[in-house]
Amino acid sequence: MQLGTLTLQNPICLAAAPWQLDGAGYERLGAIFTRTVTMEPKPGLYEEGIWQVNEQTLLNATNMRTESAEILVQEHLPHLLSYGVPVFVSITAPGIPGFRKIARFLAREVGSQIAGVEVYIAQPDTEKGAELNAKFVREATQAVRNELGPAAAIVVKLPPWPEHIRGLALGAQEGGATALAATNVLKALHLPDDATAEPLAGGLSGEALRPVALRCVWELAHDARIKLPIFGTGGVFTQSHVTDYLRCGATAVQVASGEWLEPGLSARLAAECSHLVPANL
Ligand SMILES: Cc1cc2nc3c(=O)[nH]c(=O)nc-3n(C[C@H](O)[C@H](O)[C@H](O)COP(=O)(O)O)c2cc1C
Repeated sequence: MQLGTLTLQNPICLAAAPWQLDGAGYERLGAIFTRTVTMEPKPGLYEEGIWQVNEQTLLNATNMRTESAEILVQEHLPHLLSYGVPVFVSITAPGIPGFRKIARFLAREVGSQIAGVEVYIAQPDTEKGAELNAKFVREATQAVRNELGPAAAIVVKLPPWPEHIRGLALGAQEGGATALAATNVLKALHLPDDATAEPLAGGLSGEALRPVALRCVWELAHDARIKLPIFGTGGVFTQSHVTDYLRCGATAVQVASGEWLEPGLSARLAAECSHLVPANL
């Protein structure tokens, strides 16, 4: 997969990589995407905020903790870079100035070490109930592009909204994105068996997300206006899930839930799928 000037050696990428990634085979991955960092750390839940809804479906609590970009740079990035594959730092911010600030920090501190960033697009924090729209995506992407410069790869990760994803993707493209990732988690509610327990609000990932994410990839790949390569993200557990995404128009995939449920899965898939490069990409 060609991402600007960067060539990914394998279609399998690890998303939301655990900070303490450990084990063999990760050097075969196409790329490693970090967990999302923010400029200021955000308190909240960590691993204890991830519930297994069923065998291969997870729910991430809404109030997940995020580390600061500074901690990422000082404590976690050197380890992730040690695998020798391109590393993308996932970033988010409540508004455009926040995206500019964190991108400026990363460009200054580690711009020459990372392959680029993944822009996690979330609801703008305007306190006015503003909806996420293409203008916000374009401006956020543009702000990051301006700070990181033309050589960095910028992957914009979009929400799992098949009806709206093409408009948001066009915003990313106009803002200077290098690639798209489809998709992020789907807002959902899980009711624990205990009828007295509070419903759990969070983001759904894994098996249950895959058909929605496949549809999103398909929508993007079948819009002639959208020229960017696409990472298929959602419920990848097997090689046949990888080929499903490629059939729908993705050029690579990201694995998050699969790795969380079975550490080492992304490395194993990368070994199994190395023949998919470069013929099918
Ligand atoms: C344990 C866990 C942590 C995650 N953390 C992040 C994160 O920090 N930033 C992000 O953009 N997505 C995060 N995600 C979402 C994934 O990157 C991915 O978009 C989504 O889970 C769908 O892929 P999957 O079905 O393979 O998990 C996380 C997902 C999981 C399961």
